[in-house]
Amino acid sequence: MINDARNLIINNSEKIFGEITIPGDKSITHRAIILGSLSKGVTKIKDYLISEDCKHTIGVMKALGVDIKESKETLVIKGKGINSLDKPTAPLYAGNSGTLMRLISGILAMQPFDSIIAGDESLNKRPMKRIIEPLESMGAIIKSNNNLPPLCFSSNKSKQPINFSSKIPSAQVKSCLLLASLFTKGKSIINENISTRDHTEKLLEYFEYPIEIDNKKIIIEGEKEFKAKEISVPSDISSAAFFIVAALIKKDSDILIKNVGLNSLRTGILEVLIEMGGDIKITNRNIIGTEPIGDIQVKYSKLKPIKVSGSNVVKIIDELPILFIACAACSGVSEFFDIAELRYKESDRIKAMEVGLSKLGIETKSTADSLTIVGGKFRGGIIDSYNDHRIAMSFAIAGLISEKPITIMNTININTSYPSFYSTLKESGAQIFQS
Ligand code: S3P
Repeated sequence: MINDARNLIINNSEKIFGEITIPGDKSITHRAIILGSLSKGVTKIKDYLISEDCKHTIGVMKALGVDIKESKETLVIKGKGINSLDKPTAPLYAGNSGTLMRLISGILAMQPFDSIIAGDESLNKRPMKRIIEPLESMGAIIKSNNNLPPLCFSSNKSKQPINFSSKIPSAQVKSCLLLASLFTKGKSIINENISTRDHTEKLLEYFEYPIEIDNKKIIIEGEKEFKAKEISVPSDISSAAFFIVAALIKKDSDILIKNVGLNSLRTGILEVLIEMGGDIKITNRNIIGTEPIGDIQVKYSKLKPIKVSGSNVVKIIDELPILFIACAACSGVSEFFDIAELRYKESDRIKAMEVGLSKLGIETKSTADSLTIVGGKFRGGIIDSYNDHRIAMSFAIAGLISEKPITIMNTININTSYPSFYSTLKESGAQIFQS
């Protein structure tokens, strides 16, 4: 069921129990749609994520002339190759999706036609300099609103490969430049100082596109072809994280989540929660396509506080809000360093979590790039989600153990990544209401 309510109310509930189905991975769905659209032949994408963000990716690729048919479980894309995109007849719209805007910019910046892409109010405030500068070095001509969206691309007549070393660890920037490199003659080199999620590289390899990966250095040759193939999308570990923390903090809980994507650059959340004392077991490890998967069993556990910093942060960047809830729920002081990037997500997530946690009676302290949380009891209250899906879902999970109900305002954006969150949480034992 689509959660179309403005506000959610969660009461201290029964245990969370049983098998939980988590929808497809958002990062992989975006990339599969984009790469399928550039390949030659029919790409079928099974178990893809049907959410607002991914619908915008489908919409953008259709507006660029790609033939895409949607059914409930499978997306069928008839790609006509790398140089087959049409000039869009109207500005493109990325909604709330930073991944879509940054990835598609790599393609739009290299086309022989002009285009414009804009986002919603939140996306139009997110930094784009990180992609504008390297794309300009590849010959792109981009106008922006002071390095913020909308982005206007002029026809690129002097496409060049890039030799790039990332300053900010970002899979979106890396993927943007990998996609741009597809359209240039010659070899591009992309160096990461901290490894970020590698779904784009893995999918390119799967599509048999020539790409060399040597630890943190990627070498990619432009103007080659890739073969259309069938792709199965694993369940999204970032969405599973809400239920994993729910089971860990809610007494007597015991859940099983099947076929979750276990890409080693995404499983930081499991490593941290296990270090905190979480009873988490992985079974049935397998590979689908190029991505590792497995089943995750989670039981209620007495958690200990944690300290996280440095290169570990990038592996849990999207799971930090729900991890903050786990830390706030266990006694002791948890500390997070090097988390400045959290301020540039769908909301300033350090601020949104601090404001929300303090409403619940939890003591926090922050600097520009750190957060300290003193664990305690949640007393309940009214929380603003700042229109951020992951903030809304994190506080919904906090509601499971709160002394009084938690009301979360402005939760419609849960639909950007996890439209069935509400119904799945209700079915697994939570007392949750919409208003
Ligand atoms: C994503 C990369 C990350 C992550 C985002 C999805 C991706 O962003 O936070 O939700 O699919 O590439 P950054 O690249 O900005 O770290």
